This record gives sequence, structure tokens and C-alpha cells, in this order.
Amino acid sequence: MSKELTLSIIKPDATSRNITGQVNSIIEKSGLKIIAQKRIKLSKETAGKFYEVHRERPFFQDLVSFMVSGPVIVQVLQGENAVALYRKVMGATNPQEAEVGTIRKEFALSIEANSVHGSDSIENAKKEISFFFSETEILED
Ligand code: CMP
Repeated sequence: MSKELTLSIIKPDATSRNITGQVNSIIEKSGLKIIAQKRIKLSKETAGKFYEVHRERPFFQDLVSFMVSGPVIVQVLQGENAVALYRKVMGATNPQEAEVGTIRKEFALSIEANSVHGSDSIENAKKEISFFFSETEILED
């Protein structure tokens, strides 16, 4: 039962509605600890690189445009089974399929404006965390 790290992004639809504290409250109530976070504005290039795996998908251009439409908050979350736990806490990608009590059920506006991103595997979590954070910015418990 090792402590894992995962990457979270609070997306522009949530920063623009000033609900990042409410999102963080759900994260903390789940037992996950926010051990690093910063508010940044993504460039098209950075957003495209981050979502490289989706480049050939039909929604790629819209996704990049949305992610640069306002500030985002990038976060490192720590906890037992953090990757799987945070995916449960976020809820399904499509908010219409998300369970009650999840971040996306509570706050997401659409499949695109779905309030949060979370890493989908331990391997990707490592890659995504180092994409946004240097080691000195992460203070593990
Ligand atoms: P996220 O977890 O950030 O990973 C990729 C994102 O693409 C996803 O959340 C959605 O916000 C966005 N997206 C937009 N349209 C779709 C779609 N049809 N299927 C999956 N993801 C989509």
C-alpha cells in the first residue's frame, strides 16, 4: 500500500467560475493531499504537447483551444492508490455518465469543459508530473 502521486489539472471552466476551492475541498475530503499546485496559462504549444496522445482525435483542436482559454491550476496529489482514487473522485469523462458526488457530476459543463484532468496510469502520472513540476517544487509527506 504505497503512497502514489498523480497529476491533476483544474481546467478553465472551473477557474473562470471561481470554484477551484470547491474542487480542492472534494479532493481533500477524499483523503488525497495536494502537495504542489500552481496557477498557469498554457500556450497552444504546451497544451498540444501535453495532449499529444489525442493529436489524431477529432476533438484535439477544440480541446487545445479550450485549455488555453483561461488559467488552469496544475496540481500534484498524493495518497494511497492516488491515480485510481482520483479518477474515481473525478467521475466519468462525460459528466452525464459521472456518479453523484464526483467533481465532474457536481461541476462539469460538458465532455470538453469537464472541470478536471487526472492521470490515467502510474506511468503517465510520472510523465505528466515532470511535464509541469521540477523535483524541488514537490514536497512529499
Ligand atoms: P481529459 O481527462 O483532460 O483528457 C482528454 C480530454 O479530451 C478529456 O478529458 C475531455 O475533456 C476532452 N474531450 C473532448 N471531447 C472528447 C471526447 N469525445 N471523448 C473523450 N474526451 C474528450
